[in-house]
Amino acid sequence: MSQIFNLRVEEGIGVITFDVVGDAMNTWTDAAFEDFARLMGDVEKERGLQGIIFISGKPDNFLSGANLKTMSQVDSADLARKILDVFHGCFARMSKLGYPSIAAIHGHCLGGGLEFALACTARIAREGKTTIIGLPECNVGLFPGGGGTQRLPRLIGYPAFELILRGKMLPAAKALELGIIDRLIPADADLLAAAKIFLGEISAGKADLKRPVQDFSQVDAVADMAKQGILKATKGREIPGPIYALDSMHRGVKLSLEEGLELEKENFVKVILSNQAKGSINTFFIKGMTDKPKGMMTKGFVPKVINKAAVLGFGTMGRGIIIDILRNTKIPVLVKDIPEALEPGKAFLRKILGGMAEKKRLKEPVEDLMARLTATSDYTDAFKEVDIVIEAVFEEIGVKKQVYGELSKVIREDCIVASNTSSIPITSMAPFVANPARFGGIHFFSPVWMMELVEVIRGEQTAQETIDNLLNFTGLIRKRPIVCLDNPGFVVNAILFPYLKLALEYVETGNSIEKVDGAVTAFGMPVGPIRLVDEVGIDVPYKAMKGMGFVEPTLKNVVEAGRCGLKKSGKGFFLKDGTVDPEVLPLIAKGTPKEVSVEEMQNGFNESMLKVGKDLLDRKIVTSPAMIDVGMIWGTGFPADKGGPMKWGDLTGLSEKLFGKKFYK
Ligand code: NAI
Repeated sequence: MSQIFNLRVEEGIGVITFDVVGDAMNTWTDAAFEDFARLMGDVEKERGLQGIIFISGKPDNFLSGANLKTMSQVDSADLARKILDVFHGCFARMSKLGYPSIAAIHGHCLGGGLEFALACTARIAREGKTTIIGLPECNVGLFPGGGGTQRLPRLIGYPAFELILRGKMLPAAKALELGIIDRLIPADADLLAAAKIFLGEISAGKADLKRPVQDFSQVDAVADMAKQGILKATKGREIPGPIYALDSMHRGVKLSLEEGLELEKENFVKVILSNQAKGSINTFFIKGMTDKPKGMMTKGFVPKVINKAAVLGFGTMGRGIIIDILRNTKIPVLVKDIPEALEPGKAFLRKILGGMAEKKRLKEPVEDLMARLTATSDYTDAFKEVDIVIEAVFEEIGVKKQVYGELSKVIREDCIVASNTSSIPITSMAPFVANPARFGGIHFFSPVWMMELVEVIRGEQTAQETIDNLLNFTGLIRKRPIVCLDNPGFVVNAILFPYLKLALEYVETGNSIEKVDGAVTAFGMPVGPIRLVDEVGIDVPYKAMKGMGFVEPTLKNVVEAGRCGLKKSGKGFFLKDGTVDPEVLPLIAKGTPKEVSVEEMQNGFNESMLKVGKDLLDRKIVTSPAMIDVGMIWGTGFPADKGGPMKWGDLTGLSEKLFGKKFYK
């Protein structure tokens, strides 16, 4: 095994460089834990050292924390304890060396990296854009289990609670201000030389290390407030990571450091074995997979440069798509609609972009963005300059046919054309365009500027190059894409509609709307299914299900009574105060009464999603369960700590129960 930690002695100081060779970042892998233990043995054998300095061998990374792959594979309490014992054991040995240890930090110092630095006597950091310091474990369903919940509060007091529970990552100057690091040197200074000087000062008792005795007399009240904060963010759900992080800090600061560390270990074992930790780690990985669409394109693909884009239809979706092109790129946009639609469209854009400007979310003034938009009601010569067209006209095949026919006469042969249709098969529209290989689907979610997800759809004749170019386009406008084949409802709606249908069935068999919606929000979805239907417009799922060959009786009654949702038509399932409108109750179709418990409902919903997901995989509509999970997390708000419906099925045993296998390898 090649060494990760290398010790050399310079002027009586043990200089330890560490580098997980072959990896872009240093992380705590199994090999790193083992080598750290070996290193401590070597350090203990050295005689006459004045102190030790840890410094990274990477150009801009100290240590980015635990390797999440390693963490997600921990499947027994014994293994979890073994890892913790090695980790904590090494830190304990460091404190017994009898001389100071210094963490010399440049680049990311996060999670287990910061915990390691906190176990040293002191910390010095070099300024830099990448010098970021923090304990972000709670963001990935874990919590700092390498001493962080004990050492950080003892070092900086109550601010540690917020830093840990919110998983905050700080620039070096802020870390200095809070007392997490002791010294900060300029970006161009020599870190090792400065660390040696600092060590000399510490050894000579000349360094002013601020180690105030913290007053934790108010910790019960602080912990109580912090718990309310956590529960507010999770809408009352107790997610193990932050809950046990808080418990470790709250009870730990009342104990000795050694006892506190034992408490932290105990809690960490519970968290790391929890399904929510594994679900959160899955979400972290699938987020990484889709963060940069480049990684999803064919290797070596050089995307077509987009000098100009066009959007057909200046309605709900066209407007949203244009907002995202204007605010995220410098690409000029041409929009075509009927003359009466142009001014209202522009006014809407100004309103939304103006709101973003007020919140300082735009890099340019609104008028500069608007100046890049040309609105037209004709197929002008400007269409010749267009490299990509997104079609978002009425959802009627006749209209689409006409539009594509007209469009094909004015665009260049190499122009990419994509439809935002929600239900018309891409393949069925391919004959309408001049070049079916350059035609595909790009399905956005509403409101476009708030919804990250986009489905990129491959019709039978869509070329791979077109998919790659569409992926590139989604990257430019900062969306998170998944790729799928043509399929009714593509991925997200294909899963969502049976789930909505099941929710209505529960209501029709005598379970209250409040109970059904409550079961889903308690599971962690942002809104219940009946409220979702009300919000998107009750006619939308009604028509979509009808299109898929199913007439949902309650939706039919409600829509036919002129109730298309509170926002859309002033009447739907709910009243303005959020309660169920009693007028809607007689419109609910009557099924055979069957009382279902909240847990049974949640299981029913999971089963429904998992079954459709399996079907999508079997029919190769998507190539991996991750595509489905990304779609459901970023398209519907499926709880990130559950990792997506396919991962959650694997974690809860439902996949094996239903299909005898797990979906993730
Ligand atoms: P919308 O009715 O708000 O807007 C459609 C626009 O197309 C109207 O402004 C209309 O004047 C224009 N239009 C009609 N014929 C045209 C033509 N020949 N040339 C140029 N413009 C023409 O509809 P919305 O909601 O924006 O939907 C557009 C497309 O996006 C549909 O295919 C729909 O299925 C799809 N979609 C809608 C979603 C939604 O939540 N509303 C979500 C995802 C996709």
